[in-house]
Amino acid sequence: MSRTIIITGGAGFIGSHVVRLFVTKYPEYTIINLDALTYAGNLENLRDIENAPNYIFEKVNILDTAELERVFKQYNPDGVIHLAAESHVDRSILSPLDFVYTNVIGTVNLLNAAKQQWSTTLNPSTPNNSTLNRFYHVSTDEVYGALGETGFFTEETKYDPHSPYSASKASSDHFVRAYHDTFDLPVVITNCSNNYGPYHFPEKLIPLFINNIITKKPLPVYGDGQYTRDWLFVKDHAVAIDLVFHKGKNGDTYNIGGFNEWKNIDLVKLLCKLMDEKLGNAAGTSEALITYVKDRPGHDRRYAIDASKINKELGWKPSVTFEEGLAQTIDWYLENTEWLKHVTSGEYQQYYGEQYANRG
Ligand code: NAD
Ligand code: TYD
Repeated sequence: MSRTIIITGGAGFIGSHVVRLFVTKYPEYTIINLDALTYAGNLENLRDIENAPNYIFEKVNILDTAELERVFKQYNPDGVIHLAAESHVDRSILSPLDFVYTNVIGTVNLLNAAKQQWSTTLNPSTPNNSTLNRFYHVSTDEVYGALGETGFFTEETKYDPHSPYSASKASSDHFVRAYHDTFDLPVVITNCSNNYGPYHFPEKLIPLFINNIITKKPLPVYGDGQYTRDWLFVKDHAVAIDLVFHKGKNGDTYNIGGFNEWKNIDLVKLLCKLMDEKLGNAAGTSEALITYVKDRPGHDRRYAIDASKINKELGWKPSVTFEEGLAQTIDWYLENTEWLKHVTSGEYQQYYGEQYANRG
């Protein structure tokens, strides 16, 4: 069956993996990558598929409602997979409003565009169970807040966001559900744990530390380093998105996670060891770069996902171990130092300098 799908944020980290998967796996689909190309968006992430006949790029900001209307009219999509967002917690602390604009207002703009386009099929009094049209919102486990030493986030966990980033994602999740309940918009939401892998912008923990080890800069570990995250290889996330987009239940939420919890300091030490091996350094060379710095305000202690629903209902589970995924990721960064140089030039470089100078 031929379909036309708008993927927002397709030039970013996760979005580029989702675009690549859909363009290559579904040659009968038309995939429109709609992205504003902010500091985090980079068309170099899609060089290998940019000439595919079923791929179209539209440089559009989701805050531009006229442009959204134009794109929806022009392509008449039957699906939207929404990944465009401001995604970095530290930036959200420095500039919360940017997150409200893109993550909240931008999402509502997209919901409005889809509602308008699909208006003839929507009927709140006789809810629509068809998967003909689908608005898929990609969200985060951070909306659930922080866990103590034990327990997991399930789809029923109460929302309790702490950072401006997670508050903006929680808000957008609520709007997506509200459009389902009020206007019968066919939606699905996934809340995923921390991703890692190729094309990850080097401001997040793993790619920042790989880049700093390559360039022999300090590795800034926030607070006591005992914070826990549940890491998932990005390609496994893209596979889950494909499954949920095609087979997820209308109006439902699915949690996605790696069953792979790591305390930051343990992960950083593993990364240092693997990097020393790959770079031929003496043991301990990279660990010597670890520098404990002032903690992130509002820092969530632990995230861990219970991904049993998506496992039981759709048969998804991660395909690579952390050791395999991390080794693949390190190899990719070592083979793509030009990419690293490009994305860390200009605006990002300036931002990083300011942010780092303010830590003590
Ligand atoms: P990213 O920062 O790497 O990419 C975001 C993309 O969105 C970029 O290409 C950027 O140009 C685009 N964008 C930003 N503002 C835009 C705007 N106003 N209009 C159009 N495009 C815009 O983000 P990511 O890490 O790939 O995350 C993608 C999505 O997945 C986000 O919604 C994020 O909340 C969610 N998520 C991320 C993780 C993670 O670990 N990275 C985990 C769970 C969920
Ligand atoms: P990050 O990659 O920013 O993802 P998130 O905050 O969305 O989980 O951070 C992952 C963890 O690593 C988090 O506990 C904060 C910590 N961290 C550091 O200790 N130092 C750093 O330089 C960064 C970017 C993160």
